[in-house]
Parts: sequence; C-alpha cells; structure tokens
Amino acid sequence: MRNLLITGGAGFIGSNLVRYMLRKHPDYHLVVYDKLTYAGNLDNLRDIASDRRYAFVKGDICDAEAVESAIRDHKIDTIVNLAAETHVDRSIMDPDAFIKTDVYGTYVLLEAAKKFGLRYHQVGTDEVYGWVEKGSSRETDGLMPRSPYAASKAGADLLIHAYFVTYQVPVTITRGANNIGPYQYPEKVVPLFITNAIDNLPLPVYGDGRQMRDYQYVLDHCEGIDLALHQGKPGEVYNVGTGRETVNLEMARLVLKLLNKPESLIQHVADRPGHDRRYSLDVSKLSGLGWEPAHTFEEALEKTVQWYVENEWWWRKIKSGDYKEYYRKQYAGR
Ligand code: NAD
Ligand code: DAU
Repeated sequence: MRNLLITGGAGFIGSNLVRYMLRKHPDYHLVVYDKLTYAGNLDNLRDIASDRRYAFVKGDICDAEAVESAIRDHKIDTIVNLAAETHVDRSIMDPDAFIKTDVYGTYVLLEAAKKFGLRYHQVGTDEVYGWVEKGSSRETDGLMPRSPYAASKAGADLLIHAYFVTYQVPVTITRGANNIGPYQYPEKVVPLFITNAIDNLPLPVYGDGRQMRDYQYVLDHCEGIDLALHQGKPGEVYNVGTGRETVNLEMARLVLKLLNKPESLIQHVADRPGHDRRYSLDVSKLSGLGWEPAHTFEEALEKTVQWYVENEWWWRKIKSGDYKEYYRKQYAGR
C-alpha cells in the first residue's frame, strides 16, 4: 500500500491523474492537497468523491505546517506535485502568485520530503526550455524560460535538482508538452476555443497564429508521469510529449470543423508579449522506459471537443463567474 499526496489534484491534470492512478493501482491511497484557487474545482473529482481510497485536504503548499500535518495524518510516503499557477497570460499580468506557489511552494514540499524521507515527483513543463527554433529539447539542455510562468517552473526544477544533489532526496521530474482533455479550465486555448465556438463567439488567435504546440491527450501525459514515478531514476528528468507539432491556426480550424462552425469565427488579436513560437521535445528517454502516446492529435482533439459538448454543466458555471472579469481584462480592445 502506498500513500500519495497529490498536490494540485483538484486541477485539470491532477484530477485526471487521480482517476488514472485509482484505476491503475487499486491498492493506493491518494490524498489530494489543494488550495482550490480559481483553477481548482471539486467538480473535477465529483465522480470519485465517495471512493474510500481517496481523501481531500484543503491547503496551500506554501503553508509548511499544514503540509506536514497532511503528511503525518495520512502517513504519506510519496509527493506528486502538480500544484502551481499555470496560465502564461496571467503570469504576464500578475507574476506574484507564480513566484510564491511555483517556487516557494516547491521549496516547502522539498523540505517536507527531506524531513519525512519521502519520494518526490514534480510535474514540470516543456516551457522551461524556452522558444526552440530548431531541433528538439533534450533533458540535458539548458533552461531558457521567457515568461514569468516558465521562469517560476524553471526555478522549481533547479531547486529539485539541488535537493537531490545536496540532501539525496529521491526526486524525478517530468516535463510535459501542452495537455488537452476533460476538466481543463477554459482560459487555456483549446477549451477556450471549443466553448467560444459552441456559443458562436470569436476565437481570439494571437498574432499570426503560426505558433506551434505539441497538444497531447491528458491521459497519455498521466501515463508518462506514472511511469517516471515508478521506473524513473532518482535525480533524472523525463520529457513527455508526442513529438507532433500543430500550428495554432490549424488547431482552431479543426475545432470549428468538428463543431460544424464557420471559419469566420477566427479573429486575429494582438500577440502575447514574449510569445514562444515553438516548443519541441525529444521524448526518446521516456520511450526507452516503454512509453508511447495512445492518441493522435486528431483523436485527442475529437475526444476533447466531445467532452465539452457533453459537459456544459461543468464549464458554463465557470464561464459565468469571475471568469467574465478575467476575459474582459485579457481580451477587451486587444
Ligand atoms: P491547473 O491550473 O488546472 O491546476 C492547478 C491546481 O493547483 C489547482 O487545483 C489549484 O487550486 C492548485 N493550486 C494552485 N496554487 C496552489 C497552492 N499554493 N497550494 C495548493 N494548491 C494550489 O493546472 P494543470 O494544467 O492541471 O497543471 C498541473 C501541473 O502540470 C502544473 O504544475 C503545470 O505547471 C504542469 N503542466 C501543465 C501542462 C498543461 O498543458 N496544462 C503541461 C505541462 C506541465
Ligand atoms: O507547454 C506546456 C504548457 O502549456 C503548460 O506548462 C502551461 O501550464 C499551459 O498553460 C500551456 O501553456 P501555453 O502558453 O502553451 O498554453 P495556452 O493554452 O495559453 O496557449 C497555447 C497557444 O495558443 C499559444 O501559442 C498561445 C495561443 N493562444 C492562447 C490563448 C489563450 C491564442 O492564440 N489565443 C488565446 O486566446
């Protein structure tokens, strides 16, 4: 029996990971520790709320006392950290919470891992490598973050490396490409475009829309995290992505096609400052452990569109709340 603390488990990837792990490891006990920021949502875990192998603790990863209590109360032996501020545009508007949660919060968790002798896994991002003009990033490449979000995640990765070298805390890091799938907050481009298209609202494409992303299905990413957690070597980093690059405009057109909506909904707006035009991951290291994505980009997008069409109860609530004010600030007059 293993007792895992899944920090940030009420968010998009976290809630998908909890469901994935309960299926894959029936003898595990999973404790979600989450502050429930605007992005955290217990609706994401509603279907497993009565599962006796799952518990929820509301708390901030920056609060060392609360983190230690959760570890003691639930006899935790492993931390999987997904708690973070995650939206690049918000980090450009207001970086403060990013530095606090993504850097200081990671430090608090590492201190706890050191004190209690825990295994630690960090869910990191490909954005730490920065804009990749040619070729693909390998795990040994230098970090060149270009947004406050990416810089805070890079800071976390460097601290984790330092805790491995200095204190021998058994750490691993996965660096994932863009995820899509159920329960993604509709500020991220794919759920934003899908839900706007359903409502016949414009799809705001930044700049020329020729930027590229590797959109992977969230459960493929969860499988990669699970593999690195169980078979990864302490101190090592593993990239997780499909290696397939999609231009944003192509993604927008496919969303519209799947929903039978006109391309005239595409509206070019001012570009994101410091916009990374391309990320690209070399995933041969994780493939060497036997990982390969089960979904193509088209399959992942189709499943995602289908989920948002069938689950308006989930996103309409979000889009009618504080989200409206965020949307106005982010897009009005752009
Ligand atoms: P998300 O924004 O959907 O969820 C983040 C969760 O963290 C929320 O439940 C939120 O309430 C919680 N949280 C935030 N601050 C906290 C704090 N101080 N204490 C406790 N909980 C807190 O994010 P996501 O897209 O699911 O991303 C999860 C992780 O994966 C992040 O670390 C992110 O950097 C990383 N990642 C995301 C992607 C992606 O495409 N979404 C890709 C690669 C890596
Ligand atoms: O690469 C992994 C990262 O992917 C994660 O670490 C981040 O947490 C996650 O938010 C995501 O970052 P991106 O900046 O790539 O995702 P986002 O959905 O914000 O944007 C994807 C692309 O779409 C990017 O090129 C910007 C563009 N875009 C985005 C929005 C919100 C638009 O053209 N219009 C938009 O309205």
